[in-house]
Amino acid sequence: MPLPQPTPDARAVITGASSGIGERLAHELAQRGHSLMLVARRVDKLETLAEQLQTEHGVTVDLRPCDLTDREARATLREELANQTVSVLCNNAGFATFGKLWKSDPERERQEVELNVAAVQDLTMAVLPGMVSRGAGAVLIVGSTAGIQPLPGAATYSATKAFANTFSEAIHSELQGTGVTCTLLAPGPVHTEFMQAANVPKAEHQVPGWAWLTADQVARSAVAGLENGQRTVVPGALAKLFLHSGRHTPRSLLLPLVRRTLNRIG
Ligand SMILES: NC(=O)c1ccc[n+]([C@@H]2O[C@H](COP(=O)([O-])OP(=O)(O)OC[C@H]3O[C@@H](n4cnc5c(N)ncnc54)[C@H](OP(=O)(O)O)[C@@H]3O)[C@@H](O)[C@H]2O)c1
Repeated sequence: MPLPQPTPDARAVITGASSGIGERLAHELAQRGHSLMLVARRVDKLETLAEQLQTEHGVTVDLRPCDLTDREARATLREELANQTVSVLCNNAGFATFGKLWKSDPERERQEVELNVAAVQDLTMAVLPGMVSRGAGAVLIVGSTAGIQPLPGAATYSATKAFANTFSEAIHSELQGTGVTCTLLAPGPVHTEFMQAANVPKAEHQVPGWAWLTADQVARSAVAGLENGQRTVVPGALAKLFLHSGRHTPRSLLLPLVRRTLNRIG
């Protein structure tokens, strides 16, 4: 089974565990007996979650409050992960920006790349040598259907998720035969704090209700995918449709359509 058996010393590390998909991943893994290391900036949220998981599942929960866009803070975490038994790494923390790039805040766009790209690469590279030498481990990378095609109106976000999608699938193949797996989670719209964090609450009304998944549904599919050592998990009908249309629709048709849709959001 690609998801290693839990042991008292090993940790399942989840970035972005203070809300949304990350919080539900923490519940799924704790339920299976994994002791956790939770990473995010909001300490109060992490403390409340840790208390709940310790009480309900009797697992150990370590907290690592960290701004993953900060290279120095990330280096400290990277060092710790490289020297500890990490059985599972869920690279989940991420955010989006919407709007035309030339009108956007350059610092916020840079932070988006640091979090959605550089942190994913850093932390994955910190844990893989140990996992491969032990012949056991599972990495989850949360990409998105947003990374399947360019998104005019969310240029940086779609490019960061293209990195996550491609990076994850390439590593999955590199790891064949090592006992370690890498799984890409590529969701479509999920009800979380994501749109609020991107400052586009109107977006909630642009997508029909039936198309949204809950964080719980997505996290459950993701952990089932880890258990099966899957290359990709694309939860829900809309995400599968996005995947297909993003890959096969000519760019000349797709880009104007996406631009008009995201103009209404951003
Ligand atoms: N929701 C969707 O529709 C959707 C669709 C496809 C993919 N995704 C992806 O799913 C992942 C999880 O997002 P979500 O939907 O669950 O959104 P969310 O509820 O906003 O959760 C984002 C998480 O990332 C953490 N985070 C943000 N900035 C951080 C930083 N600088 N350092 C450390 N942690 C940081 C947040 O914690 P703090 O604020 O406490 O730091 C939070 O725990 C993201 O990678 C997102 O791109 C989401």
